[in-house]
Amino acid sequence: MNGPLGKDLLGLDELTADQIRLILDTAVPFKEVSERQIKKVPTLRGMTIVNLFFEASTRTRVSFEFAEKRLSADTVNVASSGSSVSKGETLVDTARNLEAMRIDMVVIRHPASGAARFLAERIDSNVINAGDGTHEHPTQALLDILTLRDRFGDLAGRRVCIVGDVLHSRVARSNIHGLRKLGAEVAVCGPRSLLPNAVEELGVQVFDRIEAAIEWAEALNILRLQLERMQAGYIPSLREYNRVFGVTSERLDKAPHDLLILHPGPMNRGVEIDSDVADGPHSVILHQVTNGVAVRMAVLYLLAGGRPDLADAAKGGAR
Ligand code: CP
Repeated sequence: MNGPLGKDLLGLDELTADQIRLILDTAVPFKEVSERQIKKVPTLRGMTIVNLFFEASTRTRVSFEFAEKRLSADTVNVASSGSSVSKGETLVDTARNLEAMRIDMVVIRHPASGAARFLAERIDSNVINAGDGTHEHPTQALLDILTLRDRFGDLAGRRVCIVGDVLHSRVARSNIHGLRKLGAEVAVCGPRSLLPNAVEELGVQVFDRIEAAIEWAEALNILRLQLERMQAGYIPSLREYNRVFGVTSERLDKAPHDLLILHPGPMNRGVEIDSDVADGPHSVILHQVTNGVAVRMAVLYLLAGGRPDLADAAKGGAR
């Protein structure tokens, strides 16, 4: 049986505004579970979830694992090193062998764009995209949006600027889709070499100067420069990037209003964001991480067929 999100969560591009709101609304009651002394409810007891992480991750992998364990699911982590992927086994063969052991869901992070969909179309288990290449990272955007919603309430008309390496960023793509569906105004800011061609076609404004973006925006979501995905030549140097596009307290002090500061992590301190901004009074970066567990609990619960009106009851043990 498929729940209100369908079989898989592959990206925010394919969700409706109501489905996005449903995930966010379902996450709210799950936040409280992580504040308890005993952080566990029996909601997904008996379910088996495999976390297939074929690319480095700290936040997403640990957050999914906490979400699964707090919902009482049984979990197994598989990384490419140490598994038969390192001997040349294909993604689909790996997943089919895991399915033969009777699993229910797969959470996948993979360096190839489209890997999550490729897998979802070939196995019966629910598939959750935990970041595929430069395509989408839907649960990151959902936790970013939940964090914005915690501060602003309704996001309709709110102005959010995504700053930095948009070209290589699955987080940017998911945020643009999700925020626009909820009625927010979205902009991007960065060197043209780090913006996708025809980025305006995604329905965003473009700022070539960080000062103008800061003047316009109510929130900045600052992206990591993905040095590992850059062959060469995108920026003259990290120092130059910080000088022209870095989010610094000097720049924020000149803004006509306070801005909320988000960063999906991991941060390059002193490059895209200065430490006094990352650790400053307007930063909600660690609040994003806390919200990540609740958002992932909501996604797991809804994909497992959970009825939204039972989310509160689920905390106490329905299912
Ligand atoms: N934000 C994010 O995806 O972080 P990780 O790469 O550590 O999972």
